[in-house]
This record gives sequence, C-alpha cells and structure tokens, in this order.
Amino acid sequence: MATYHDLPPHARQRLAVAERVAVLTGAGISAESGVPTFRGPQGLWRSFRPEELATPEAFARDPQMVWEWYDWRRGKVAACRPNAGHTALAAMGVKVPSFTLITQNVDGLHRLAGSTDPVELHGNIWQTRCLGCGKVQENRQTPLVPLPPTCPTCGGMLRPHIVWFGESLDPAILGRAQQVAGDADVFMVVGTSSVVWPAAGLAEVAAMNGATIIEINVEETPLTPDADVTLLGPAGYHLPRIVEGLWG
Ligand code: OAD
Repeated sequence: MATYHDLPPHARQRLAVAERVAVLTGAGISAESGVPTFRGPQGLWRSFRPEELATPEAFARDPQMVWEWYDWRRGKVAACRPNAGHTALAAMGVKVPSFTLITQNVDGLHRLAGSTDPVELHGNIWQTRCLGCGKVQENRQTPLVPLPPTCPTCGGMLRPHIVWFGESLDPAILGRAQQVAGDADVFMVVGTSSVVWPAAGLAEVAAMNGATIIEINVEETPLTPDADVTLLGPAGYHLPRIVEGLWG
C-alpha cells in the first residue's frame, strides 16, 4: 500500500501488541551473509539454468552434475555466518508471545542464529534423502566424498533434501505454514521476490484473516501493492532497528 524507510507508528503499534507474529523469509535475508540470491543481477538463476540443476528430471539424467552444483553451494554456505537480520529474528522469537519463522531458504542460517524450529518450506541443503530407503539425514561434510553420496543405512543413492521445481512441498510443512499465516496478527515478509508459489500465497492467507502485512525488501515486489507497509532497505538494517525499538 505504501513504502517507507522507517516503520510507521501504526505498524509499530500493531507489532508491539501482537500476540501472534509469523515471518516469511527468502534469499534476501541471507544476501548480507554472502549467500547468493536466485533472481536479480547477481542471482544464481542468471548464471545457471534451474531446469538443468533443480528438477527431478535433471537429477535422473545427471545426478553427478546436480550434486556438483549442490556441493559447490554447500561449500559457499559453510563459509557464511548469520547476519544482523537473522539475529534480530531470533531475538523477536523470544519476545513475541507466539512467533513462527517460515523460510524458503535452505541454508540453515536461521537455526545457526538461534531461531528454534523454523518451518523450512523448501528443505535444507544440509540434509540428504535416500532414494532407496527414503531416510532423511543430516550431512555437513563439505566437500562431499564420494559424489554422489551414498546412504550409510542402505547404500542407496542420496539426493539433496530440497524441493525442486515441479515437486510438491511436504503437505504437513505447507499446512503448518498456512495455519500460522492464517492465525497471525502480523505477518512479515522479508527478502523474497514473492514470485514462487505456494510460499508467495502465504501473505494473502494472512491478509484474508486480518493480519497486518509488513514487507521488508530492498525493492518493491509483486506483494508491495497488497502489503500494509513496505520498508525499503536491507533486512540487516531494518530488523535490528525494529527489535531494538520495540523490545530493546
Ligand atoms: P529471490 O532471489 O527470488 O529474491 C530475493 C529477494 O530478496 C529480492 O526481492 C531482492 O530484492 C531481495 N533482497 C536482496 N537483498 C536483500 C537484503 N539485503 N534485504 C532485504 N531484501 C533483499 O529469492 P526467493 O524469493 O527466496 O527455491 O526465491 C524463492 C525460491 O526460488 C527459493 O527458495 C528457491 C528459488 O528457486 C528453491 O530452492 C526450492
């Protein structure tokens, strides 16, 4: 509805009294940690073709190539640390009576910053899933040896535990996200281009149920016209100011 460079008083007040707050994050919150985003001038999808690297068909065709790309990304993420935006959201989680963090990110930086039990819509780059026995396991080895990695339980081939294009989100995880969006008094949308569904639809679920929608992004997005407030600027700038201002 309107763009701001500071949280306006009506939104500050709403957040201050909110019982239930949910926050949806995207690649933009990790940009200041050095994790590449997907879209935009430096985005991964400018240099790589998603259909060759992030679909089940690509993996069936050439698991080695897909794993090499994920191994490279795991190496990049391993060198990154949570930034002030991640830390502020972890702090908000302690202050708000009922707080849920929903993320599209697979980098695990929210957990590393101290957020408990984030809803990871698109999976986690530090988890693998066995094509043989289906077991999901944590795996932090980087670089991975052998590549593709094999299941320590059954010897089957592992895949990244990530939702690829053309795949459905885990219905239980999506259901939980939709539930907390629908219950939220304030729904914040941070650092996402709001073009990938069903994640992009969560703000609409929240708005239909009366939530105040606060967006934080360095630029306007397709959500901006429907948000109550869009704060323009980096998440690592705005989120600590909000938390300090309200609960510091
Ligand atoms: P995108 O790369 O599409 O969008 C990143 C957004 O972050 C853009 O709107 C930027 O303007 C914004 N941004 C960049 N730096 C920022 C900063 N410092 N502070 C605030 N905002 C900033 O990433 P997502 O929206 O997360 O899917 O992409 C959604 C999904 O598409 C991803 O989860 C991924 C991808 O294909 C999977 O991996 C399954």
